[in-house]
Amino acid sequence: MHTPNQLQEVIENAVQNIQYAAHPQRLYEPIRYIMSLGGKRIRPVLTLMAAELFKGDIQKTMPAALAIETFHNFTLIHDDIMDNAPLRRGKQTVHEKWGVNNAILSGDVMMVEANKQLSMLDSAVLKDALNTFNATAQGVCEGQQLDMEFEEQEVVSIADYINMIRLKTAVLLGGAMKLGAQVAGASPDEAEQLYTFGENLGIAFQLQDDILDVYGDPEKFGKQVGGDIIANKKTLLLLKLKELATENDLQELEYQSVNKDHVDKIKNTTALYDDYNIRGLASIEMKKYSDKAFSALTSLNIAEERKTELFSLADQLMNREY
Ligand code: IPE
Ligand code: IPE
Ligand code: MG
Ligand code: MG
Ligand code: MG
Repeated sequence: MHTPNQLQEVIENAVQNIQYAAHPQRLYEPIRYIMSLGGKRIRPVLTLMAAELFKGDIQKTMPAALAIETFHNFTLIHDDIMDNAPLRRGKQTVHEKWGVNNAILSGDVMMVEANKQLSMLDSAVLKDALNTFNATAQGVCEGQQLDMEFEEQEVVSIADYINMIRLKTAVLLGGAMKLGAQVAGASPDEAEQLYTFGENLGIAFQLQDDILDVYGDPEKFGKQVGGDIIANKKTLLLLKLKELATENDLQELEYQSVNKDHVDKIKNTTALYDDYNIRGLASIEMKKYSDKAFSALTSLNIAEERKTELFSLADQLMNREY
């Protein structure tokens, strides 16, 4: 078995070795760009770790891992258009660099590239893998749609929000793990249990992402700090604040939601979060889901020492700075 860091390196090499066509240059250059910007490679690491739990071979699992990472990077390109984001992994976003139309089309062709990777899996596991991959990809689109709709929606419950992040983010972490398990020949029950681990980890992961969006260190975060505030995203932080704020503070929040001065808007909204210890409350919620993930992994019937690396990766993710 390998450590997450070792697997990350194996994936990094495999990603750098993917060959994309040369022409039309403006179609493929953005793909090389986004794929070479690094990132944590969490999802493909999870795919390989899931496979290794069941004594699967990492090279045999690699097509699934690369399909997942390619799909993830595609969603980032389109997500940055939808979120009007200027920065990704510390660099200019694809649509800022090449324009929105180019970013749409390069993203589209990445979905095709992901499918090409997936088709390189052993034919014995291909049908299950395709089903998992497609269900995952569809879930992400559903979540992204809800995320956009919530920006304009007056009332969003915490349950609505959790369901939205489950779809836009967590099904991909769950799906990445299920895919690795399936490729390694795990039973349907075992694959489902790993999915549950990944999905709960994914919810905690998105909660952490929402916290970092407000409280991240701009030098380390790699994205625009305060982007969710600018876009009036219905994050858990905002929903908790709305639950707790006094009438006066709610009015101030309402005023900030239409504030055109973005620097001022971020500063004043963050001050409201601070007043109500929203960061602490969001961390408690995050811990709830990481605990759920841990207990799903605990109940998986596999030798404890085989789970150690996964537990430590999950722990690392909950304490990350980007
Ligand atoms: C960003 O994912 C999108 C979210 C679901 C929050 P990551 O935080 O895994 O981004 P990279 O791939 O490491 O850059
Ligand atoms: C991530 O949501 C969901 C997907 C990319 C599918 P965010 O919009 O919060 O992700 P970041 O913060 O831009 O990475
Ligand atoms: Mg975004
Ligand atoms: Mg988004
Ligand atoms: Mg975010």
